[in-house]
Amino acid sequence: MIREADIQTTHIDGDRYHDRSIMQLETDHIWRKTWLLAALESDLRAPKSNVVFDIGHDSIIIARTADGFLSAYHNACTHRGTRLLAEGVGTAPLITCPYHAWCFNLDGSLRAAPDAKSFSGGLPPERLRLKPVKLESWKGFVFVNMDMGAATLSEFLGTLVDRVSPYNIADMALLEDQSVSVDCNWKAMIDNFSELYHVDHIHPQHKRFVDCPNATDELFENGHTGLYVPGFVTDSRYPVPDKPTDYQEMQLNTLGIDPSEFVGKVAEIPAAIIRAKREQSGKNGYDYSALSDEQLTTVFQFNLFPNIILSGSPEGLWMMRSRPHPDDPSKSLLDKWALQLNSDPLLGGQGDHKQTLHAASKKAAQENGRVLRDCFGYEAVLSGEKSMTETIDQDISLLARVQAGAQSSGFASAWLSNQEIRVAHFHDTLNMTYDAARNSEKE
Ligand code: FES
Ligand SMILES: [Fe+2]
Repeated sequence: MIREADIQTTHIDGDRYHDRSIMQLETDHIWRKTWLLAALESDLRAPKSNVVFDIGHDSIIIARTADGFLSAYHNACTHRGTRLLAEGVGTAPLITCPYHAWCFNLDGSLRAAPDAKSFSGGLPPERLRLKPVKLESWKGFVFVNMDMGAATLSEFLGTLVDRVSPYNIADMALLEDQSVSVDCNWKAMIDNFSELYHVDHIHPQHKRFVDCPNATDELFENGHTGLYVPGFVTDSRYPVPDKPTDYQEMQLNTLGIDPSEFVGKVAEIPAAIIRAKREQSGKNGYDYSALSDEQLTTVFQFNLFPNIILSGSPEGLWMMRSRPHPDDPSKSLLDKWALQLNSDPLLGGQGDHKQTLHAASKKAAQENGRVLRDCFGYEAVLSGEKSMTETIDQDISLLARVQAGAQSSGFASAWLSNQEIRVAHFHDTLNMTYDAARNSEKE
């Protein structure tokens, strides 16, 4: 754990959002050296399934081999470098290069090359296997690390492993898979999801279901952070309403509680939710035994350095991932997976989505039993053609403006409040990374 008093960043310069030398430094010392959340394990269950994960100019193939192991390697043919597979989720028994048809096994080894006799140097297998990448799984997510000498994923995640452990994320099902391109640096997105200071102003609906002023921050080693926001309540900056808000009504109905019982008693709703979840645990499709009372009504958020946001509740989660544009530091992608724990028939559930969440559409389009990834530009969100939920749409509407201002000569550095301590911790970690990288480049 890191104490707030140990945070050193009180200002953040605008250059890091657009300077190309910083972008290159991040490529070499962050993206190519850090554990990165690359795929869902559920997309890699079947033998011969694969996921291609692109990050900057790098692209990684993760494949389930015929004997059931997961393998990860660079998506670059060892003949002349051609990218082998396009980004996405697929199935293939072998990987064949589209250029001269070199053929690779799913463990990355070279299987065959046409006219092999024409290589006077032969086809040495170790030299020509696809360049390997480290791989580890955690909580239903597959992580990769291009640095083969990196510490283990659990060493990197540290305390976060214990914090996330009570939540059954690994069994959550994918409801929606969206990617939006935004005209801002990847870090502006992470900054945005590292503070609640903006919530009252740009997410006015939040006052009807969470109490941001009573949220708690946690700062962890390696730049990770946690956030715990009291849920099933209204914002304590405002008077408690006489009757449950629309969100609270929905939450109570989900658990079979009549909202009219709470007219004049809105402050008693969280206790009633805890009682209901405890009484129904193991009978209504959900098992709450690993969670504390507080966790039953808390909205959590865990930010994994450098670019992952896991935000949710015991029944559902958003995985949000910010990825840099390969060449332009003022552009990035935001990927959002909406995941939900279906009620478990073995625990008396119907296998349905009983709890309320957070997907933008009632039912995303599917192909072969998997929701299709929907990719669009932020203009489509601004025009209302696409939505990533009201909250994320509101965030996206601001990000290009943040970038525009941070890139202007009128902005020198940010001035942070205590409510932005997680932003400071993120940039503190970046500053340490930048300093170490510059020192190592000098040597
Ligand atoms: S570049 Fe792949 S086979 Fe030639
Ligand atoms: Fe926001």
